[in-house]
Amino acid sequence: MKASIYIETLGCQMNVADSERASTKLREAGYELVGSSESADVVIFNTCSVRARASQKVFNRIGEVRKARNGNEPTIGVMGCVAQLEGSALFDHSSSINLVVGTTATDRLPSLIESARESQRQIIDVGGRVDGELWKVSNVERHSPYVAFVPIIEGCNKFCSYCIVPFSRGREQSRVATEILDEVRSLREDGYKEVHLIGQNVNSYRPLTSAGLEGFSGTTPFSKLLRAVAATGMNRIKFTTSFPRDFHPDIVAAIEENKNLCNWVHLPAQSGSDRVLRAMRRGYKREDYLRRVDAIKSSRRRIALTSDIIIGFPGETSEEFEETISLVAQCQYDGLYIFKYSERPGTPASGLADNVSNREKSSRFSTLEIFQKNLQGVIYKSYIGREVNVLVEGESAKSNSDMTGHSTCHKVINFPGDMTMVGQEVSVTITEAKANSLYGVIKKN
Ligand code: 5AD
Ligand code: SF4
Repeated sequence: MKASIYIETLGCQMNVADSERASTKLREAGYELVGSSESADVVIFNTCSVRARASQKVFNRIGEVRKARNGNEPTIGVMGCVAQLEGSALFDHSSSINLVVGTTATDRLPSLIESARESQRQIIDVGGRVDGELWKVSNVERHSPYVAFVPIIEGCNKFCSYCIVPFSRGREQSRVATEILDEVRSLREDGYKEVHLIGQNVNSYRPLTSAGLEGFSGTTPFSKLLRAVAATGMNRIKFTTSFPRDFHPDIVAAIEENKNLCNWVHLPAQSGSDRVLRAMRRGYKREDYLRRVDAIKSSRRRIALTSDIIIGFPGETSEEFEETISLVAQCQYDGLYIFKYSERPGTPASGLADNVSNREKSSRFSTLEIFQKNLQGVIYKSYIGREVNVLVEGESAKSNSDMTGHSTCHKVINFPGDMTMVGQEVSVTITEAKANSLYGVIKKN
């Protein structure tokens, strides 16, 4: 019997997808995958480095696991973004780490684990993908039996000045459409109801060949892919994240043409100030961003819009922060993720003085949070009386007589129901708006 392995995933959806791919390889190689670190022979952390606090987390978790194991030490591995960036320095940072596996070395995990356990030496692989390594995930490893993450592009070429991702995940590499379409078709056959096409910038999708996209119209390869995925008949298709500069209005046209392309776009603005956007090297101005938003908002379908904002970027003045507030007011977001700027070593912005004090960052953070909460309250209330399509995902955390799921516009919806509904799509009439969710009742036919 081979060793038992526990993988703990920190960070974004791409890490969730990477863990699913790694687990598939490990199980194929005969390893046992277990759901807790308590007695696993090998504990692997799939790490995130997007902000300082996230990249610190792995060290706290290693400490906690070792303490709980009380001397019965597992083999400890670090994979993902922190592994790629820190490499062998991780061994110096923590003597309990035995294995370091970079973001594109996941398929080699089985042999790397074997070497680490047999040789009792520190093993590292931060190399690239090898020809013939394909994205392959078995359904038993997926995070849900109804919703699947399907990566379409890995890496990032944008080099926004604050961001570590181009360094931790390398250059953009798009999967060939035939492979993506085969995966979506087989997910559909296996009962999956929703796919999320994922990538750092999905709309920068540019495969080396157009195989699979023949016969589909579209101004960009991404809008062709959207139409091709829609044609598989998968019930619900969502995609994230979209990069503003590459957001072509043809994406909106594709959504309008296909009911199964969901009515939700995540389009991070990061700032409302042209000076800050330039310093961030985002490649667009406030007006360019607003033009994209216009195309989304003026669609005949009501398309929900969400965004990310960084506050306290080096040199951000209070006037520039006000410009972000006014952008948020103009965009009327259905949801907003706010982040305090966090200096990442090696990025261009790390050469700038991180001169907005932590106190000021906290104050801007809560100002924006409250501002958005008020706007969002009005948007959420406008759903009362409306009917939304919900994919039932499970019991609500708050009440076991309520079920929970997401709408096609990607809002959390709770409603009275029972476990027999899980995995089904239901129509819910909204009766009440909460801060970050909607409550309703199933429409009787
Ligand atoms: N500091 C703060 N937030 C960041 N993000 C990316 N890099 C940083 C950083 N250095 C945010 C951006 C991005 C989201 C995933 O994380 O808003 O869209
Ligand atoms: Fe980071 Fe910018 Fe790439 Fe997004 S687009 S991953 S923020 S560099």
